[in-house]
Amino acid sequence: MGFPHPSHPKETPVLSKYFGDAAARSFRGWVERGGYEGLKKALGMTPEAVVEEMKASGLRGRGGAGFPTGLKWSFMPKDDGKPHYLVCNADESEPGTFKDREIMRWTPHALIEGCAVGCHAIGAECCYIYIRGEFTEPWHVMSAAVEEAYAHNALGENVFGSGKRIEVVLHRGAGAYICGEETALMNSLEGKRGNPRIKPPFPAQAGLFALPTTINNVETLAAVPHILTRGAAWYKGLCLGNPKSTGTKLISVCGHVMRPGNYEITLGTPMKELIFDMCGGMRPGRTLKAVIPGGSSVPLMTPEEVDQCATDYEGIVACGSMLGSGGMIVMDDSTDIVYEIYRLAKFYAHESCAQCTQCREGTAWTTKILARILSGQGKSSDLDLLLDLSENMTGKTICVLSDSCAAPIVSGIQKFRADFEAYLSRATAPVLALA
Ligand SMILES: Cc1cc2nc3c(=O)[nH]c(=O)nc-3n(C[C@H](O)[C@H](O)[C@H](O)COP(=O)(O)O)c2cc1C
Repeated sequence: MGFPHPSHPKETPVLSKYFGDAAARSFRGWVERGGYEGLKKALGMTPEAVVEEMKASGLRGRGGAGFPTGLKWSFMPKDDGKPHYLVCNADESEPGTFKDREIMRWTPHALIEGCAVGCHAIGAECCYIYIRGEFTEPWHVMSAAVEEAYAHNALGENVFGSGKRIEVVLHRGAGAYICGEETALMNSLEGKRGNPRIKPPFPAQAGLFALPTTINNVETLAAVPHILTRGAAWYKGLCLGNPKSTGTKLISVCGHVMRPGNYEITLGTPMKELIFDMCGGMRPGRTLKAVIPGGSSVPLMTPEEVDQCATDYEGIVACGSMLGSGGMIVMDDSTDIVYEIYRLAKFYAHESCAQCTQCREGTAWTTKILARILSGQGKSSDLDLLLDLSENMTGKTICVLSDSCAAPIVSGIQKFRADFEAYLSRATAPVLALA
């Protein structure tokens, strides 16, 4: 079992405080560390008051879109007499992202507690945690923790004597990226093919089993007990200037830095501080070439953009990309940008559910054109063709997988055009064997 790196002094360990502390995994260990106090507090509050607390904290979804959590919870119907569901998205398949698995590995009860609070807030008696199929160890840790939570009445018919029934059911996916998309995930949970659904209806109207459903990411739900225990004002205070981006965020940094790993930062931390100070910067003799800051589905950033960027939702948008899931892929000057974009396009082509024409054809077609460029057969018109195709893949499909494929292609051509042109002019030697 791998251990995480020791916390850096510039980190703000809230969710990651007990990463590496195996004793925090048990029910007793979690309670000794202040665990389940948030749930007990929530059970003494009305659901509406819990929702208000989330709104006041400023917590936003950590799964990718950054939607305000309290607002999402408030969309659930009141007194409709129907069963409601909470779904926890633990699919974590976004390339470059490896934080949710660590939350489940080290602090499974933080997630269970967050799920229980969420159920109370949205009037649900059942939460499904949909875990990526490849996560063998997190699955075992979560299974043991759920069993223990039932044994100690943190889950079950009468949670902590409150009269509330809250069940948590673990469900293992089968390894499809698209099943991380919320409506595909619900189809998969129902035993159907994991195809995204057309919205509306939105999950709060008709989600899992056509009933009102809220879906949240692991990191989002794991933050919830801390907010209840320490208060919305404390969480909102974890902010470096931008009041729309509050709290801490786990950033999974991978690629060409000296110390890759998960770093829990206060939102707003300068990106250059994260990369060059906390992660130790580039390998000796290398310089930064590009960063994809939010998992692979967002635009590439140049070193100049990184230099002035605050790592939060609005800060990264202002510098030409998005925070997304917080999976930060760092590339130094040894990187062949064209090849990396090809690898990403190939990933999206493989993972497209093929429901929408623009996505099915677009991901496959862009992959073929990028392969042609890399193999030295590119035409001068190929870059315009790629941009044109990407335009047709953006904002036109049921889900945003196709937009996600287009984002690195468009930003790659706009920001690293010379790298593409070097292949087209044959100045760069062709790649003979494409993986
Ligand atoms: C193709 C695709 C894959 C996604 N994969 C994930 C994932 O693995 N985990 C996740 O939490 N959200 C993923 N999302 C985002 C979810 O659809 C959804 O927005 C998120 O789970 C909501 O939780 P949050 O509000 O707590 O962020 C994905 C979205 C798309 C379009």
